[in-house]
Amino acid sequence: MAKIRQYKVSDKADLQNICVETTLFPKTEKVRRWLPIAFNDYYTEKQSEFVFVCANELDKAVGYVLCAPDEKKFRQSMIDEYLPKIRKISSLAYALLKREFSAEDKLYEKYPAHLHIDILPDYQRMGLGGKLIDALIEKLKDKKIIGVKLFCSANNKKGLSFYRKYGFTELGKQGGSVIFGYNLGEND
Ligand SMILES: CC(C)(COP(=O)(O)OP(=O)(O)OC[C@H]1O[C@@H](n2cnc3c(N)ncnc32)[C@H](O)[C@@H]1OP(=O)(O)O)[C@@H](O)C(=O)NCCC(=O)NCCS
Repeated sequence: MAKIRQYKVSDKADLQNICVETTLFPKTEKVRRWLPIAFNDYYTEKQSEFVFVCANELDKAVGYVLCAPDEKKFRQSMIDEYLPKIRKISSLAYALLKREFSAEDKLYEKYPAHLHIDILPDYQRMGLGGKLIDALIEKLKDKKIIGVKLFCSANNKKGLSFYRKYGFTELGKQGGSVIFGYNLGEND
């Protein structure tokens, strides 16, 4: 049975692989290269304290939850350091992400953090996602972070059902996504 533990630097390539394997994007060669830069590397390189993995019996990561505790710092770092790398691979991905990071974050005050969670198909629906969320929520409370949000595609039935089950609140819709939030209670 897989167990939950803190991220280690040696997990990095496994997490990048999980990111690609679980995406709803078509897995083209370009997507395989830019996706982990957009959705993994900031978190594992700059905020590893907020990264938890589920590891199998060989201690290989088979799922993760990643979190940026401060959206403003995240965006600045993405614009300065990671978007230039993405631009060299895909000008379309660069343009879309740049637009996203330049838009106002109206939820920042109550939900300064955001998360991503992905688990390989063979390890889904065993309760591991819930345990990863528990580990992250405990860390966020410990660090006095008042709220965490995420975007889930409106077509992602598993994801929508998962966040509802684990106590996330629907905050609205944007593009083709539902925005969920988890308030950690210190700002009400
Ligand atoms: C969403 C995800 C993280 C859930 O993790 P998990 O470990 O499977 O979830 P848990 O076992 O802790 O929780 C199970 C709950 O999630 C939802 N769920 C998980 N798999 C589901 C499926 N195949 N169909 C419908 N609901 C599903 C249900 O609410 C389920 O509760 P139930 O079993 O009582 O019906 C996982 O399915 C995943 O990584 N999916 C692919 C990537 C992804 O969509 N990430 C989220 C992007 S926003």
